[in-house]
Amino acid sequence: MPTPNKTETSIINLLKTAKVKDKYLSGEEMSETLAVTRSAVWKHVSSLREAGYNITARPNKGYSLSEPLPFNAFEVSSKLKTSKIANNLLYFKELDSTNTKALQLAKEGATEGTTLIAETQSGGKGRLGKDWHSPPGVNIYTSIILRPKIAPQKAQSLTLMAAIAVAKTIEEFSPIKPSVKWPNDILVEGKKIAGILTEMSSETEQINHIALGIGINVNMKDQDFPNDICKTATSLAVLKGEKIDRAEVARALYSNVEKWYKVFLDTDLSSIIDTWLNYFTSKGKKICVSGTPPTEGICMGIDSDGALLIKNDDGTTKRVLSGEITSIY
Ligand code: BTN
Repeated sequence: MPTPNKTETSIINLLKTAKVKDKYLSGEEMSETLAVTRSAVWKHVSSLREAGYNITARPNKGYSLSEPLPFNAFEVSSKLKTSKIANNLLYFKELDSTNTKALQLAKEGATEGTTLIAETQSGGKGRLGKDWHSPPGVNIYTSIILRPKIAPQKAQSLTLMAAIAVAKTIEEFSPIKPSVKWPNDILVEGKKIAGILTEMSSETEQINHIALGIGINVNMKDQDFPNDICKTATSLAVLKGEKIDRAEVARALYSNVEKWYKVFLDTDLSSIIDTWLNYFTSKGKKICVSGTPPTEGICMGIDSDGALLIKNDDGTTKRVLSGEITSIY
């Protein structure tokens, strides 16, 4: 369901309060509290059920709500403690791509922090022209509109900020520490669990807006991954051995983006670089980075612009600004 209306929101809240007290709520009590007829209560309860809320009705007792709660903007927002990110949270049952829609809304004037979630994407985009597998009911596909007053050349460091926020989020739910693969793949035990796609509209001097797109594999099972990525991808549920509440993961993600975006805006980049390097495990290793031709050498870390530093056999160091690490030896 996109977003419950006002009466439905009140019904959910009343049922949640009753649930905490382990009580049922009669149709009569609800109709009095909400000043609507009992048949209106019944209709709203029906549409809430259709929207995925498990509401049981017991004769002579009333209604009760049980877990799991559905994944929608209302559930994500209800315990969200951010002040800017996801303050305006838009939920879509299906989109081509949350990034494409975010870029469109940003162009039309959507404010910074406006956040989109899609239950499924028909054309989910990955980096370097790849697809992002986006089935419904299991994962998080979200894009956040940002309007930093920075030059386009600084966008790479914003990507590092996003990688930190996603890695911190994964760390809150995964029993094993995540790592980042330059520039912004998030891996656990060498398998990809989340990806980030930053797309922007900019002038020569300044960025107009950014769509910060994040995909997190939350409840995918091993057998749900398509053949081409089943050996290289994982999810929080696979790692933890249990289903994870997507709304909780989304809230953690938005809090982490808010925190690290503030660090990005308010301080020099040293703490972003240092924190990112904490998750980077390729430093000192021989690597290969895609490109024409590909670059091979010893990884020396990243510089203050987020460029990858690779020491060639002749001892010179090359800065690589785009592409991906294809091999780590
Ligand atoms: C990658 O690792 O290749 C980047 C994947 C980014 C996927 C997310 S899902 C939400 C947003 N919308 C998209 O179409 N892509 C990003």
